[in-house]
Parts: sequence; C-alpha cells; structure tokens
Amino acid sequence: MPVLVVVGAQWGDEGKGKVTDLLCEQAEVVVRYQGGNNAGHTVENLRGKFALHLVPSGIFNPNVLSVIGNGVVIDPTVLRGEIDGLEGRGVNMRGLKIAGKAHLIMPWHIMLDHVQEARLGKGKIGTTGRGIGPCYADKAARQGVRMQDIIDPAGFRQKVMDTMAAKAEVLAKAYDQDVSHLKEECERYIEAAESLRPYIEDTALLIWNSLREGKSVLLEGAQGTLLDLDHGTYPYVTSSNPVAGYASVGSGIGPTHLSDIWGITKAYTTRVGEGPFPTELTDATGDRLREVGNEFGTTTGRPRRCGWLDLVALRYAARINGFTGLCITKLDVLDSFDTLKVCTKYKWNDKVFDELPPAQHIFSQVEPIYEELPGWKSDITGARSVKDLPDETIDYLNFIVKNVQVPISLISVGPKREEHIKVPHPYAERSQGAQSGYGGY
Ligand code: GDP
Ligand code: IMO
Ligand code: MG
Repeated sequence: MPVLVVVGAQWGDEGKGKVTDLLCEQAEVVVRYQGGNNAGHTVENLRGKFALHLVPSGIFNPNVLSVIGNGVVIDPTVLRGEIDGLEGRGVNMRGLKIAGKAHLIMPWHIMLDHVQEARLGKGKIGTTGRGIGPCYADKAARQGVRMQDIIDPAGFRQKVMDTMAAKAEVLAKAYDQDVSHLKEECERYIEAAESLRPYIEDTALLIWNSLREGKSVLLEGAQGTLLDLDHGTYPYVTSSNPVAGYASVGSGIGPTHLSDIWGITKAYTTRVGEGPFPTELTDATGDRLREVGNEFGTTTGRPRRCGWLDLVALRYAARINGFTGLCITKLDVLDSFDTLKVCTKYKWNDKVFDELPPAQHIFSQVEPIYEELPGWKSDITGARSVKDLPDETIDYLNFIVKNVQVPISLISVGPKREEHIKVPHPYAERSQGAQSGYGGY
C-alpha cells in the first residue's frame, strides 16, 4: 500500500498541516517523523481551526492511527496540554500513539536553548526557544531521556534527577543561570510525562503491521528542506532532518516502503528566524504578502519574512527529497498582484548559479535573477478544478512545473480543507521518469 511523505519544500509553514488533514480523509495511519513543538501546523476543517504542535494532523479522522514517531522530540507538558485542548474540543484521541524511542524535551533543554541564543547575540539563529536543539544534541550525545523510560517510574525519576544535576551545574557554572527552580520544573515534567504512559507503543511495529494489513500510511514532516540540519542553510537550521530520507528513520519503516514524496511549497516564499533568504522583500510588496497571506508564526506569533517564489531553492528541494509531486499552497494570496516575480537563477559577483551555491557564505550573498509573469487579478478561492483557474494562473503553475520538472499533485486556494484542487495527473508537462504525483489517495 502507498506510503506518502509530506515534506516542507521551503523554510517551513508551507501548509503541511492543511495538506495532511485533507489527505487523512483517506489515509489510515499518519506519522509525525521529526521535529517537536517548534512546529505549528494549522488545520481548518469542519471542527474549526486548530494549531497542532506535536499531535499529527490526521487526528481529526477518528479512524486514523495518529503516531508521534521515534524521530520526534516531545515536551511532555506541551503534549499533555495539546491532548487536553483537543479533547476539550471534542476530538477523539483514541488513535494517538507515541513511540517509546522518542526523546523528551526537559526544562534544562529550554534553558540551554535560551542561553545559547543569548550568547550568540547578533549571530543568533532565531530559534523557537522550545529546547529543540539541546534535546537533539543530548540524543546524539547519548544523554537523552526517552518516552519508554516512563514505563519504569522509579528509574525514570532517577534518570531525570541525575541528568538535571549534571545540567544544572553547566547552566550555573558556564552560563551563570539561576537553577533554583529546576527541580520543581522537573516534577511538573515528570507528572506530565507519566500521564502519557497509556499512549506509548512500539510504533514501528504498529506501522509495519498496518502496512501488512494493506493500510495507507502518510508520513508528516515538520519544518522544511532548507531548515534541514544537513541540507539546509546551516547553521540557520533546525536540529533535525525534515527531508524525506529521514521519514523512514523517524518512523521506523524501511525506505523501500516509501512510494510517493510530495513537496509542499507556497506559491511564494516565507521564512521565520534568522538566516539567508535570497528572494526576501523588505519593501511594501513584502508587507503586502505578509498581510494578505497572514504570515505570522503559528508557534511564536513572529512576523514571517516574505518574498517571491525561489525556483532555484525549489529545484534543490525536489532533488534532495526526490519529490514525485508538488503541492502548491496559498496560490490565492497572489490574487491581487499585477505582476509576479519568480527567481530562476542567482548571481554572485560575475557568476550565475542554476543550483544552490556550494558554500553558505556565497548563498548568503547571492542576488536573485527574476522572470516576471502577469498576475491574474481575480479571486481563485472558489476554484475546485484546474478548469476554474484563469489562464495566467495556469501559466504561473506551468512555469513552476517546467522549471522544477515535478508534476503538481494538489493546489491549495484557501486555508479551509475544501479549498483545494486535486490535480488529475498528468496535469502539466510531466518530467521524464517522474512518478505519478496523485496516486493512491
Ligand atoms: P505548516 O507548518 O506547514 O503546517 O503551515 P502553517 O500552518 O504554519 O502555516 C500555513 C498557514 O497558511 C496557516 O495559517 C494555514 O491556515 C494557511 N493556509 C494553508 N493553505 C492555505 C491556502 O491555500 N491559502 C491561504 N490563504 N492560506 C492557507
Ligand atoms: P513547521 O513545522 C518555520 C525555524 C525557527 C528558526 C530555526 C531553528 O510549522 O513548518 P528551532 O526552534 O527549531 O531550533 O529553530 O528553525 N523553525 C521553523 N520555521 N516553521 C517551522 O515548523 C519551524 N520550526 C523551526 O524559526 O529559524
Ligand atoms: Mg508551521
């Protein structure tokens, strides 16, 4: 049965939550495979508007198994709050399962995130301050606390307190922090973590069994390709691997199972936090994209930096992930623009780049080379078929397909679940050797 990976193709916030919720009308298992509560996935469906941070966006279908995979880092107080909030709004959490191998974000991780950012000063990364980096660092350093540790309450408490003592020393001595409240904070975390015990499972086995039963599985990425620890704009990245290759690691199923990989991209570009962004617009046009697109962070409320679509970066994302289909979201946000610019190449000194430059210091200095396309100047939010779209919109989409060489599988024209167009393939020119985008769901 198909295993579809939903991957952010840009710097996050591409609409992965919306696409996942929509696909989970049909999918039977959905797995978040990395990241933590740095993610904010917005879903607007018949039940209302929701901002999800750790719970997979398939949770609204009561028949879907919603798995928080081993690649995710979990702040137990945040997850507890999210579960309670969803249950309070009548969402059935019976399908939620949490990997025993997932690591826990603890109070010292959050403190370390803040002090490390403060120490970087002007060179800060602009993290969400949720303790993500320090938690993944401890995981790699084999000093982490895991969900499965909760199963042995005495051992869990001991492990938390021992680790806390070591971390408190670092925070006090190296960073001059007041650590007097840490113990109390840890008690709160232990209590929240223990309340999650009923959800702990061998999720890799669960997914494996689902596949054997012929169920369709969706792997929901967080963040985006350019925030990837290896392949993104390092060091201005997150501390996990959002790319499709990690979907297998973070969910515990072999890569041979992955059948479709959809890259989710806005029809323009946004970024939250620091770091290079070649097509960023710091002028009135950027402000207009932010206002029309309501570009404010789902997790931190920070204004998102906005700019035109960057096809050099999108081609890169297509290559690194092996996209079989593209989902173009927020196309409606461009409705009122007279003309639209699209970056097809970069220039740096006298050099022109078709691909991402080989070094970060170059990437941070490149200038975009744009092509300009006519806008469509009409409201497309009601479009439900490609036939409903103006010619200029189709030209814009075809321009993307031609440049990226990946077929479009889905077009999103508004935040609500029904505001989309499923594209019967082949919609536009299909690249040679590319897989069908819209398969199986
Ligand atoms: P995610 O992190 O990738 O799930 O994306 P976010 O939820 O952080 O940000 C996407 C924002 O765009 C949310 O506020 C969505 O409700 C909204 N959204 C998603 N698709 C569309 C669309 O096609 N049009 C418009 N106008 N908004 C959309
Ligand atoms: P979703 O899943 C957008 C950014 C932060 C910062 C960098 C590192 O909603 O697309 P971190 O807290 O992860 O150490 O911060 O990554 N970032 C995101 N930007 N969407 C996200 O998630 C993000 N998660 C992290 O702003 O620049
Ligand atoms: Mg988001």
